[in-house]
Amino acid sequence: MQFQTNKDKILIIDFGSQVTKLIARRIRELGVYSEIITTKKFNKLKDYNNIKGLIFSGGPSSVTATKFETVSKEIFKKKIPILGICYGLQLIAKLLGGKIKPSKKRREFGRAFLFKKKTSLLTKKYLNKRKAVWMSHEDAVVKLPKNFKMVASTKDSKLTIIENTQDKIYGVQFHPEVTHTDSGKQIFKNFLFLICKIKKNWNIISQQKILIEEIKKKVKKDKVICALSGGVDSSVVALLINKAIKKNLICIMVDTGLMRKDEFKYTYKIFKKKYNLNVKLINASNLFLNKLKNIHNPEKKRKIIGKMFIKVFEKESKKYKNLKFLAQGTLYPDIIESKSSTGSKTSKIKSHHNVGGLPKKMNLELVEPLKEFFKDEVRALGKSLGLVKNINFKHPFPGPGLGIRIVGNITPEKVKILQEADYIYINELIKNGLYKKIWQAYAALLPIKTVGVMGDSRTYENICLLRAVTSEDGMTADYFSFPKDFIDNISNKIINNVKGINRVVYDITSKPPSTIELE
Ligand code: XMP
Repeated sequence: MQFQTNKDKILIIDFGSQVTKLIARRIRELGVYSEIITTKKFNKLKDYNNIKGLIFSGGPSSVTATKFETVSKEIFKKKIPILGICYGLQLIAKLLGGKIKPSKKRREFGRAFLFKKKTSLLTKKYLNKRKAVWMSHEDAVVKLPKNFKMVASTKDSKLTIIENTQDKIYGVQFHPEVTHTDSGKQIFKNFLFLICKIKKNWNIISQQKILIEEIKKKVKKDKVICALSGGVDSSVVALLINKAIKKNLICIMVDTGLMRKDEFKYTYKIFKKKYNLNVKLINASNLFLNKLKNIHNPEKKRKIIGKMFIKVFEKESKKYKNLKFLAQGTLYPDIIESKSSTGSKTSKIKSHHNVGGLPKKMNLELVEPLKEFFKDEVRALGKSLGLVKNINFKHPFPGPGLGIRIVGNITPEKVKILQEADYIYINELIKNGLYKKIWQAYAALLPIKTVGVMGDSRTYENICLLRAVTSEDGMTADYFSFPKDFIDNISNKIINNVKGINRVVYDITSKPPSTIELE
């Protein structure tokens, strides 16, 4: 088992909670480096150097079942401070001799209120008044393990915060990592600085220098190629590597013809003129649109776009001699292992298109400078590198682009119509101060025409669907509730300005059951 870095860290053992990543984010927001590890890997861990604290996450297992996700009891002998969250708390109690019961009466989902029973380092500056916390549990600890004390309760659950100060083991039944818990960050703050006594060691700005030095050391005088899409990840990667090796970085922009209106031209200009990067724009739109003619199936479309992209990129890269590296904007969430140890396999919903398939075929070594970072950290890095706001705060955009936002058959006419509608929609969001409140927004075209009336004439044209969602990481999402005046105006703005659309609808589904994209 190799850690990402040899820094002092807080290690989070993932028992399969949906929100484990948030724990790591909260800790990093407090200036401390943290990593997530699966139970399987944790159980094989030999080197505990640099681990200043452990957090046991929540998870779907139940310690009242015959088989449940666990860790070796030996861990309690290492004298590393531990904080258990939800299932993590129940597991600690179980392993140390407490009692846990499944209980319909004690189960709590959603908001609950904490009552202080005892002062504790964990709740310092936190429990001075009644606090709302977010719960999601059916099992509850009903008898404390030896040497543990009760710190706080809720109406339905007595042992909501527990502690063993002697061995520095703490547990909370609620989720301090989610924003629905009032001031949950204070719990982490206390655990990190009062209990683990770890020092602040994580700061994005100072990370920039280290990253640049690491790139220099790895790449030396060789050449790096990078597929630049103009999204925040590839843009930050390009700026970072450029700072390290200048002209030895070759950026390729493949215009699939399925990009947003004018976006590629804008990105190209910014990187070429403002940042003076070695960037080449390849217009492959005819190639892509020809291959996509009469293709209706979403998966087929995705596969064609992905394959074509690799083909065009590969062909271009062959023009350069001495290429040794491929730069990718892989982020930390992309490499955190899924909860395979719980046996649950994520089923494939869509085949994602990215440049991940490239290195094996092209025999290039990877440079992935962002693989320790979360998206918000990448944006902080982007800011410190002087990345323009338009790019740094841009909503995510999928690799297959408008190809999966024109449901069914793609034609150049439909692309044009959609580009215009999307352009108006996004600009209106910006003008109305809504863009930053939304995680992702886009316009799409549905494959049906409906009747309308404009002037005194009948029309028979396309339906434009608008989507806007809030989300933390794209895994789950809620539709955004627009102010009424925005909804009232946007349809007219689009229909009056885009020929080919006579009806606008708003998608009010969350994910799940829907996905964010339509295909
Ligand atoms: P879904 O539609 O699966 O999307 O809910 C979740 C997030 O992933 C983006 N997405 C993609 N990103 N290549 C990408 O780089 C893809 O093929 C792809 N498909 C979906 C989507 O825009 C959303 O942010």
